[in-house]
Amino acid sequence: MYDAVVIGAGPAGYVAAIKLAQHGKRVAVVEKSFVGGTCTNWGCIPTKAILSSAHLYRNLVEKASELGVILQNVSFDFSKIKNHMNKVVMASRKGIEYLFKKNGIELFVGEAIVESPNSVKVQDKKLEAKYLVIATGSVPTLFPPFDEVPGIWTSDDVFKMERLPESVLIIGGGVIGVELATFFSSLNVKVTVVELLEHILPNEDADAAQVVAKSLKKKGVEIYESSKVVSVQPSENGYKSIIETKDGQLEKVTERVIVAVGRRPKIGDDVKALGLSIERGIKTDETMLTNVPNVYAIGDVRGQIMLAHVAMYEGVTAAENICGKPAKMDYSAVPSVIFTEPEVASVGIKEKDVDPSTVKIFSFPLMANGRARTMLEKDGFAKFIADSKTGRILGAMIVGPYATELIMEAAIAVRNGLTAEQLEKTIHPHPTLSETLLGAIEGIVDKPIHL
Ligand code: NAI
Repeated sequence: MYDAVVIGAGPAGYVAAIKLAQHGKRVAVVEKSFVGGTCTNWGCIPTKAILSSAHLYRNLVEKASELGVILQNVSFDFSKIKNHMNKVVMASRKGIEYLFKKNGIELFVGEAIVESPNSVKVQDKKLEAKYLVIATGSVPTLFPPFDEVPGIWTSDDVFKMERLPESVLIIGGGVIGVELATFFSSLNVKVTVVELLEHILPNEDADAAQVVAKSLKKKGVEIYESSKVVSVQPSENGYKSIIETKDGQLEKVTERVIVAVGRRPKIGDDVKALGLSIERGIKTDETMLTNVPNVYAIGDVRGQIMLAHVAMYEGVTAAENICGKPAKMDYSAVPSVIFTEPEVASVGIKEKDVDPSTVKIFSFPLMANGRARTMLEKDGFAKFIADSKTGRILGAMIVGPYATELIMEAAIAVRNGLTAEQLEKTIHPHPTLSETLLGAIEGIVDKPIHL
């Protein structure tokens, strides 16, 4: 008898398993594919690997000469970019396998069939456990008419491609859509992005989306916002798509079409048969417990915030509760990180969602930052939102190089209720991009020195 059986070895499941084992529990993990789940194998890690190649290539093309670096015949080799991606994925996978061994976690490779809250079948083995942790993740959403088009791609297919297409139409200008548009356009693929809502990256503020849109357009990307793809038909040279835009219909022929309109939780009939309450995904309380005693659900399968870092924290929360250490998830400061050029990162409340009479908002432009100038970077900003009465930081949005790293200062502030004054009084090193954040904070407290 195991203390816990975890189904799915993605960021939610593998972290929960390790935490449980660290607390001395006997743990089995069932994974039908590779450890690491979508994030390691078909998501975060491979995208960032190929984006690193694309970013370096683009930087060389765009900046080398001005920085005094003489290069001749800068080019790229897509098969080597893929080699790099595969090596990084493999190393990450091996790392998780190593951690399983180190912590005495038993890994069963195969499809788990849940028989009861205490019993799971995998191939010819029956695993019995006191607790069941469901971490089966999500799959890309495909709906009509796109699901009937032969050879249409989702993000999963991008990582399998053998060569770069000449042109792609990306349906959905959300996180996956814009990261893929950044990758393809950086490597000279002709890209069209179609977004249903008013602007790409609709979950972020419009000013952030505008900077990304400007940079994509500079790379030749055509962006259609408030637009819809109404049909996709295979044609001689790929696919012929009809796009309904604000200004009427237009036709686009591209070699590939990628659908990136969101993901949906993966919940098998065996799991449903447990009598779990399901709404978008498996419903849980803040301890990650479902309505069925001793059954926990974590990560994308909950259908809530589908981010690897949220999944990992949910894994830890479930594990601690199983170990008798009461813990609750706190979603007040979830950083969002988008690996476009420039990068976009945000945390806490957004300007678009806040009543302006209750807050102070200040945006400091990247152009006024010395370190950014040394890097030939000028497009972006750091924006902070603070409560106008208490001065507490409620949210922040950063657009610029390394925004995905810089966001942590703001995340710590939001999570811990720090005030703008407390951040301002913290010495920021010079010359660094973090001074862009300082500029915004100074603007909230009083006036920024460097503007
Ligand atoms: P998403 O929800 O971020 O974006 C989907 C986009 O498609 C939305 O902007 C939506 O308005 C649009 N859309 C929906 N139907 C459409 C239609 N018929 N025509 C045109 N546009 C349409 O989902 P996405 O990008 O597929 O990502 C899936 C999940 O993976 C998300 O939860 C995302 O947060 C996560 N992810 C996170 C990353 C990161 O944190 N850097 C990277 C990649 C994925």
